[in-house]
Amino acid sequence: MKPLGKEESVRVCETEMAGTELALEEKAQELQQLSKQYSNIKLLQLDVVCENSIKKVVKEVEEIVGDKGLNCLINNAGINVLASLEEVTAETMLTIYETNTVAQLMVTKAFLPLLRKAAQLSTGMGCHRAAIINMSSLAASMQLVQANEMFLKVYPYRIAKTALNMITRCLAADLKSDGILCISLHPGWLQTDMGGNMAPMQVQEAIPGILSVLDRLGEKENGSFLDWQGETLPW
Ligand SMILES: NC(=O)c1ccc[n+]([C@@H]2O[C@H](COP(=O)([O-])OP(=O)(O)OC[C@H]3O[C@@H](n4cnc5c(N)ncnc54)[C@H](OP(=O)(O)O)[C@@H]3O)[C@@H](O)[C@H]2O)c1
Repeated sequence: MKPLGKEESVRVCETEMAGTELALEEKAQELQQLSKQYSNIKLLQLDVVCENSIKKVVKEVEEIVGDKGLNCLINNAGINVLASLEEVTAETMLTIYETNTVAQLMVTKAFLPLLRKAAQLSTGMGCHRAAIINMSSLAASMQLVQANEMFLKVYPYRIAKTALNMITRCLAADLKSDGILCISLHPGWLQTDMGGNMAPMQVQEAIPGILSVLDRLGEKENGSFLDWQGETLPW
């Protein structure tokens, strides 16, 4: 099969965006409910693997935040598929890598001007100034590979998240002089579409912990790998 050229990929991307726009009303119902309740919650649509969609959302965010810039970017989007050593294919590896790793770097790059704008208006380090939070996973830890055998069934996911952790380390070093902090965060094993019903925690149980970790971030935590309770995880 002939690979898609740049123009064709953009067209595919635009068609996909049109599809997701139709689906927004159906998909994000809980968020829509919240945004009706709280006027400071703005819902914007983003496909993280689509360059045009990233550009569009950056403009929309810029219109909302204005001269204040953006204080906190949470790279939360992620996908997973079951793929053991026997099942894994090059295609699955690349798809998961694109969404869980490449997209986080591209989204971050696109938001840098807004993060820098916010950073210029404050001092110290943390979410009060400018921060990038990469949603990682315990499954990414190279030191804990033996301890978590169930992750042997998700080769592409854990490898992509390990690479995401390297993005965190690079950004933390690169953006320190701009006053922009970057960490990797493991949110806990949670009952979501991805986490499944077997997960020991509901999202609501982890959120206070996650918010408290974000609130306490400072220079000391720049470039770290933390869990939802603020514990440092081994790389
Ligand atoms: N749940 C856990 O136990 C757990 C543990 C460790 C780490 N994490 C990480 O936490 C993050 C959130 O996971 P979750 O448990 O909430 O998973 P989830 O229930 O499957 O939700 C994943 C989210 O990512 C979005 N997404 C996927 N592809 C996207 C794309 N191309 N563009 C924009 N958005 C996209 C999905 O949007 P749509 O619904 O619109 O597709 C959905 O909102 C992920 O990065 C995951 O790896 C989760």
